[in-house]
Amino acid sequence: CGIVAYIGHREACPIILKGLRRLEYRGYDSAGIALLNGELNVYKKKGKVNDLEAFIADKNIHAQIGMGHTRWATHGEPNDVNAHPHYSTSERIAIIHNGIIENYAALKTHLQQQGHEFHSDTDTEVFVNLIEEIQQKNHCTLEEAVRLALHEVVGAYAIVVLSKDEPNQLIAARKGSPLVIGIGKDEFFLASDATPIIEYTNEVVYVNDYEIAVIRNGKLDIRSREDVQQTPYIQKLELELDSIEKGGYEHFMLKEIFEQPRSILDSMRGRLELEAGHLNMGGVRAYERKFVNADRIIIVACGTSWHAGLVAEYLIEDLARIPVEVEYASEFRYRNPVLTERDIVIAISQSGETADTLAALELAKSKGATIFGICNVVGSSIARATDAGAYTHAGPEIGVASTKAFTAQVTVLTILAMVVGHKRGTLSDTKLRELMVELENIPSKVEKALLLNTEILQISEIFKDATNFLYLGRGYNFPVALEGALKLKEISYIHAEGYPAAEMKHGPIALIDENMPVVVIATKDSSYEKVVSNIQEVKARKGRIIAVVTEGDTVIPPMAEFVIEVPATSEVLMPLVSVVPLQLLSYHIAVLRGCNVDQPRNLAKSVTVE
Ligand code: G6P
Repeated sequence: CGIVAYIGHREACPIILKGLRRLEYRGYDSAGIALLNGELNVYKKKGKVNDLEAFIADKNIHAQIGMGHTRWATHGEPNDVNAHPHYSTSERIAIIHNGIIENYAALKTHLQQQGHEFHSDTDTEVFVNLIEEIQQKNHCTLEEAVRLALHEVVGAYAIVVLSKDEPNQLIAARKGSPLVIGIGKDEFFLASDATPIIEYTNEVVYVNDYEIAVIRNGKLDIRSREDVQQTPYIQKLELELDSIEKGGYEHFMLKEIFEQPRSILDSMRGRLELEAGHLNMGGVRAYERKFVNADRIIIVACGTSWHAGLVAEYLIEDLARIPVEVEYASEFRYRNPVLTERDIVIAISQSGETADTLAALELAKSKGATIFGICNVVGSSIARATDAGAYTHAGPEIGVASTKAFTAQVTVLTILAMVVGHKRGTLSDTKLRELMVELENIPSKVEKALLLNTEILQISEIFKDATNFLYLGRGYNFPVALEGALKLKEISYIHAEGYPAAEMKHGPIALIDENMPVVVIATKDSSYEKVVSNIQEVKARKGRIIAVVTEGDTVIPPMAEFVIEVPATSEVLMPLVSVVPLQLLSYHIAVLRGCNVDQPRNLAKSVTVE
């Protein structure tokens, strides 16, 4: 979910609506706004921010204090009632909340016994009634009541609370869900991330876990849950407004796919210096001994980041000869994983906020492992919770389906594997040099792969009505097959499966008939001959083959219905190039099917609940 709030001298409503639009990628099944102007009015609506805007067009929306929310449902279906903000029973307090309250059932029973009424199925309504109950019982200020309530709730939250009885104040708190405060001149902006803030100010404070922020009479006061005053650490943001707007593209996703030559370059900047012959990574240097002596590397991540982790498994084992395990963060955290101080855990996350990934790394930390983070969002929770790390520097990714963040993650992981391999002596000077030259050429090869756009649009027209897709690859291209399938599922709602090409004969081959599109990533590498055999197996069952091949391949074209030629590169770098046509294929198919590419149904960009 996304939260945004304003307190100052301007009209709050337009600022909040604009902020909600910027945050819509975090969730978009319903949206709402609360405005404080003597009255405390809450307006909310199922659907997009546009629906909310239409709904409030004829309402009294003048106020200089307010807050808004765009939701990704956890408790309760997306509808008007379950949308945020939520009132307390007396309707004198309102709250917006991102996160999840785990002990809400017990609290709800207790509050119902005390006479509080509930209208929604949400855990958030429990939160606001708990605050009201405490305030009524203790005759205390709202600030005090919020503080006491935070001692009783179990779970994750970022909240903003307004009260009709204390009309010049806004209270916020966080534990586990992100919250940033932008500091303007006699005005403050609060949000889940910095994107709604940058057009007003570049001075921000990231609220820490267990902190409460009170903004009253033009002053920001941050206190711990134990009521000890904290000194806010004001940071300067470097984000540019351009980077979060569409810049002429029809969708953010397309813009981000086309940004990849640039974003890959940015993720190498300062790390790969070919002329000087340097390859370095600050975060690795700081923990060099740990990396060199590591018994094992465990990678934890979710979604597309997990696929980048799978590519890294091949890279690190190949180049640095350290055993690697790649784990779904959500599974890892609830096992009883065996970890020692000689293990390194790498957490990969675009947003740096994914709840499962954060919890997995906290668990690993408690067991003594060294934690390395690979995040895109600077200052994010995961970045701050790690011992060391490397930012991917891909710039803001707004499209829900991850594209440029994936290639940036893979670039950073490639450099990491090369640096560690070289230090460990498993990657020779010559091989290192060769790979550095190839890596330097990747942005221009991706540029070339993007020229396939029109050709891929034509292929998309032919397959847009398919109901199933199979993606096959081996070796470094196996995770690419998984990623291609995930992209298609996410945005076009076509069922797709990624499979190791050889494993196909143990199941998915039963699905192949003359209607089944099979995308095979079959670039020239060490398993090329084997993949060619797999293509023949598909062809023998009349599957419709779309092959991604290396430029100049003459063997596969006669076997495939469609051939997509990508530039040649080293086997270990191929995922950076071969994933590009698959991103484009899913994009065009989704657009042709009339799907909302940037905001696919049921998904969210940043999943801050487990
Ligand atoms: C969500 C997004 C995916 C993303 C995954 C992990 O499911 O829709 O695009 O890959 O979360 O997110 P992270 O920010 O941790 O990389």
